[in-house]
Amino acid sequence: MPANHHRLPRSSVDGGFSWWWWWRKLSKREWTIFAAAAAFSIFLIILSPVSVSRAFTNTSANSGTASVWVPFTPSSKAQKNSAFCLDGSVPGYHIRRGFGSGSDSWLLHVEGGGWCSTLSSCSARRRTKLGSSTYMEHEVEFLGILSHDPLHNPDFFNWNKVKLRYCDGSSFSSHPHNEFGNGTKIFFRGQLIWDTVMDELLSIGMTKAREALLTGCSAGGLATLIHCDDFRGLLPKDANVKCLADAGFFLNEKDIAGNHTIESFYHDVVHLQGVAKSLNHDCVTRSEPYKCFFPQEFIGNIKTPIFLVQPAYDFWQIANILVPASSDPGGSWPRCKLNILKCDSSQLEVLHGYRNSLLKTLNEFQQNPEMGMFINSCFVHCQTWAAETWHSPTSPRINNKTVAESVGDWYFKRAAAKQIDCPYPCNPTCYNMDLTRG
Ligand SMILES: *[C@@H]1O[C@H](CO)[C@@H](O)[C@H](O)[C@H]1NC(C)=O
Ligand SMILES: *[C@@H]1O[C@H](CO)[C@@H](O)[C@H](O)[C@H]1NC(C)=O
Ligand SMILES: *[C@@H]1O[C@H](CO)[C@@H](O)[C@H](O)[C@H]1NC(C)=O
Repeated sequence: MPANHHRLPRSSVDGGFSWWWWWRKLSKREWTIFAAAAAFSIFLIILSPVSVSRAFTNTSANSGTASVWVPFTPSSKAQKNSAFCLDGSVPGYHIRRGFGSGSDSWLLHVEGGGWCSTLSSCSARRRTKLGSSTYMEHEVEFLGILSHDPLHNPDFFNWNKVKLRYCDGSSFSSHPHNEFGNGTKIFFRGQLIWDTVMDELLSIGMTKAREALLTGCSAGGLATLIHCDDFRGLLPKDANVKCLADAGFFLNEKDIAGNHTIESFYHDVVHLQGVAKSLNHDCVTRSEPYKCFFPQEFIGNIKTPIFLVQPAYDFWQIANILVPASSDPGGSWPRCKLNILKCDSSQLEVLHGYRNSLLKTLNEFQQNPEMGMFINSCFVHCQTWAAETWHSPTSPRINNKTVAESVGDWYFKRAAAKQIDCPYPCNPTCYNMDLTRG
């Protein structure tokens, strides 16, 4: 049986439609732990603040000197470009400059936090940090892939690092032409935020980038894939530019009741926020735009090398795509959705089926020699931004490689970089989240 049921910091929780339920429950300090915030009403409502604090303490202790708090920088060009968060506030980012041989290398990490699909859910977001910079932390901790400690982040520690804050509800893809002209003050400026922040980073040195990696987790992982080729196009032709999506491969699968829950949700997001204009052009010419919000529909069109870090038992996808509450009226799934150890054998069969669908979908892209993958059989979500899952003695591994080592092998072309795990519960290095405790 997999070990390590308790050490993962809660900061890996991210993304989702029903995030709204629990954000109010968290104090400001807890928010820094739950940094990307979102989803997961049922899971987090039962998490006590005490256990959250404990997770926080462990994180700090384990990361040692790598902990570093980085202040928020409001975008200086937002006002001029009319690039606003959902509520009209100014978006921004956190930046830590590179040093030594990393001075001309840039790593961008896009924050996640689900999406909003209705006027009322987007409206509600305006009073949270996922829709307004007024509510964002003044500083965040840079860990995992953002760490500046070579012990914790061997390949990217000395790069310029930027964490882009997410406050548009559309993976940085909404357009103002879909705003309501009737006095409802909700701004759909995701693409403008993206363009503005890129412009700003270019003006402070990114035009000279020799190495660059665009990354993001959950909805930020999806943003990474959506904007990957455009990002590449902004940088010097001879620069080494790649993209890494962490838990951003949202699968278009029916739920266990046979309903197209995620498909209709994505349909609503794309239509409400005018997302089509930001989606892959080739995809949009052959499919309905909302389908092109699913990575499987456009990954084959991305020209820049990409890497997917994706758990095959992604607890967010299980809870929101495969077994949303509406698909389980009898209520036989909540325990299993909170802790994979509590799943019975028939539930495990369903989860294995989801993994099989993921692998089958990815199989199409296996031939691409530039593409990297780390598909582990753990019950987690994001894995790049926590010290414990990115690179530590107790990290999840496949073929004895951590996520950080596999990503480094791919980015620097050191070794083959397609790592696919055997099915759960075969991997003893997994962190399997127990969402019922801290
Ligand atoms: C504005 O338009 C939207 C969409 O048609 C509608 O849902 C909303 O109620 C309207 N708001 C006002 C204040 O009329
Ligand atoms: C899901 O499907 C069932 C029938 O298969 C239907 O009765 C139910 O209303 C659907 N639920 C949602 C949320 O669409
Ligand atoms: C796994 O990798 C570590 C270094 O990260 C090494 O010390 C250890 O010997 C390796 N174990 C095996 C079984 O190869």
